[in-house]
Amino acid sequence: MRIIVVGGTGTIGSAVVNELSARHEILIAGRKSGDLSCDITSEESIRSMFSKAGKFDAVVVTSGNVVFASFNEMTAAKYRVGLEEKLMGQVNIVLIGREYIQDGGSFTLTSGILSRDPIRCGTSASMVNGAIEGFVLGAAIEMPRQIRINAVCPTVLLESMGSYAPYFRGFDPVPAAKVALAYSKSVEGLQTGKVYEVLN
Ligand SMILES: NC(=O)c1ccc[n+]([C@@H]2O[C@H](COP(=O)([O-])OP(=O)(O)OC[C@H]3O[C@@H](n4cnc5c(N)ncnc54)[C@H](OP(=O)(O)O)[C@@H]3O)[C@@H](O)[C@H]2O)c1
Repeated sequence: MRIIVVGGTGTIGSAVVNELSARHEILIAGRKSGDLSCDITSEESIRSMFSKAGKFDAVVVTSGNVVFASFNEMTAAKYRVGLEEKLMGQVNIVLIGREYIQDGGSFTLTSGILSRDPIRCGTSASMVNGAIEGFVLGAAIEMPRQIRINAVCPTVLLESMGSYAPYFRGFDPVPAAKVALAYSKSVEGLQTGKVYEVLN
């Protein structure tokens, strides 16, 4: 398969690339790095990436920022960051990418454990992750041309604990290589409409 990994240089993305590259041709996309330039916050940039990518069979998205701040400090503008970057960035990859992807192709999005196991300062992440999972469930049953869509919902990664540990006390972090297996199942399997929760 020919697979685009948006965010393929990041903590999760590089593990996904490592897992899939032994068996498939990988195109890494990102703002500053990779084979293809793409900023998921810009519909124009997403369309430009897909129009340059040539034929492809799968898209994995492992990028999207949210603001972490105490609920008291959260404002509409701070929620808008997560909604525009992590939620609509990934949704727009699907909306535009469905015009370009091969028949029977797949989209794999990234949510995160805060949709079901909340932490202090995580209201935006909980909101956006839940919305991504709802989008996947709804979109899967209306996808044209046998295109599939799933999400991976990882707990905090071992490799991210340096900066995330104070927010994730009591969580058992998972290695990126294990998280990457869920992306492999989504891309290389046949399931659709699934949210793959990855715990340690
Ligand atoms: N790390 C964790 O513990 C964890 C756990 C659960 C869920 N998640 C979620 O997983 C996703 C990835 O997390 P991560 O820790 O792997 O992030 P990361 O290490 O910061 O990597 C982010 C990747 O996305 C790319 N990127 C950032 N903004 C982009 C944009 N606007 N358009 C296109 N590419 C962009 C970056 O490359 P460029 O800078 O070149 O654009 C980079 O390759 C996030 O949504 C995060 O919430 C992470």
